[in-house]
Amino acid sequence: MTLPAVQVTIYPFECDAFGHLNQASCLAVLERARWDALAKGPGMDVFKRHGVWPAARRTTIDYRAAAYAGDVLHVEMVVTDRGTTSFTMRHTARRTTDDAVIAEADMVFVCIDRIGRPTPIPDEIARTLGVSRPSTRETIRVSVSGAELAVEVRGDGTPCVLVHGFPLDRTMWRHQLAALTRWKRVAPDLRGCGASSAPSDGYSMGRYADDLIAVLDSLGEQQAVFCGLSMGGYVLFELLRRHPERVRALVLMDTRAEADTIEGKRARDELIAVAKSEGAEGIAKRMLPKLLAPSTVQTQPEVERQVGEMIRRTSVVGIVGALEAMKERPDSRPLLSQIKVPTLVMVGVDDTLTPPPLSRAMADAIPGARYAEVPAAGHLAPLEQPLVASRLLADFLAGL
Ligand code: MLT
Repeated sequence: MTLPAVQVTIYPFECDAFGHLNQASCLAVLERARWDALAKGPGMDVFKRHGVWPAARRTTIDYRAAAYAGDVLHVEMVVTDRGTTSFTMRHTARRTTDDAVIAEADMVFVCIDRIGRPTPIPDEIARTLGVSRPSTRETIRVSVSGAELAVEVRGDGTPCVLVHGFPLDRTMWRHQLAALTRWKRVAPDLRGCGASSAPSDGYSMGRYADDLIAVLDSLGEQQAVFCGLSMGGYVLFELLRRHPERVRALVLMDTRAEADTIEGKRARDELIAVAKSEGAEGIAKRMLPKLLAPSTVQTQPEVERQVGEMIRRTSVVGIVGALEAMKERPDSRPLLSQIKVPTLVMVGVDDTLTPPPLSRAMADAIPGARYAEVPAAGHLAPLEQPLVASRLLADFLAGL
């Protein structure tokens, strides 16, 4: 969408002691221009009709040349990007007399509902805004040793491979797949999970790790940033042992470096018995209460429902295979001091399965690792607090 261009005059009180348009006033001029343009059409009523509002989230301004009192600026505004809940509008202000670009600003707006929660942009508004998500989106099938994986691939740029936890699938990254538009997002269903095939045996951390490399090869990518949650993190430790040269950077979310204790192994055996006798439903019953923060359960019932659905559609053979693989995984603590790539360790404050002190110790043991806690999140921060988790990830990726 391109808004009607408008002209605004610079007033003396908007200029500094040297007579230049002041930087804060420049932003006000651009705001004035947008309001004038919206008043000409399509108008704010399109938002009001749907009970949503575009809240300013971030503004980046390039001040390109000085402007002075009395200058008339011709301001053009165009939507350059649109995601699920947000859109970016570029404002370009040129002086009418010499066509000099005075300022260029990218403003990101998040669509919020009446109580201020980010909400998907309603279809009518999305159509009015025009620009669809620039990224490509497809689910591909990748043949790996003895199985076929479903892999969601979106966008272009540095690949970021998102590895889900147990007993979940790639849809746990739904928000990050939508939000990290500057990177190529690659989210596989591990073998036995989601829409991937479920071979009857052969599950191990090594096999999962080799599968990720097969995915990377199939995309023609040499390296990727790997982000793993919980069991996804265990897979990444094995990937580091086997294929360190393929790892550009690492994000370890809600995971641990320790192997299972004797007690932990016994609990795995019990869960294996539950899966065999009661199916995925029995696993959902036992695991759901442990995965989410109490505040998530209270305020976001849809998240609990999504997680429950993910668990219920995991095959029993995939569940049993993953439990065996986790039970057999080695202690990865000796590996931590050897990690040479930029690393972010992230954990939900209310994670009881891999509590923050474990993540803090892991971050301390990895040279130069960053550590971040996500408030009001349990074991599944990317689903429970998607905005915070995505922002932490995006900031980390942007810094690489
Ligand atoms: C996971 O979320 O992947 C599991 O909690 C990992 C585990 O059971 O150790």
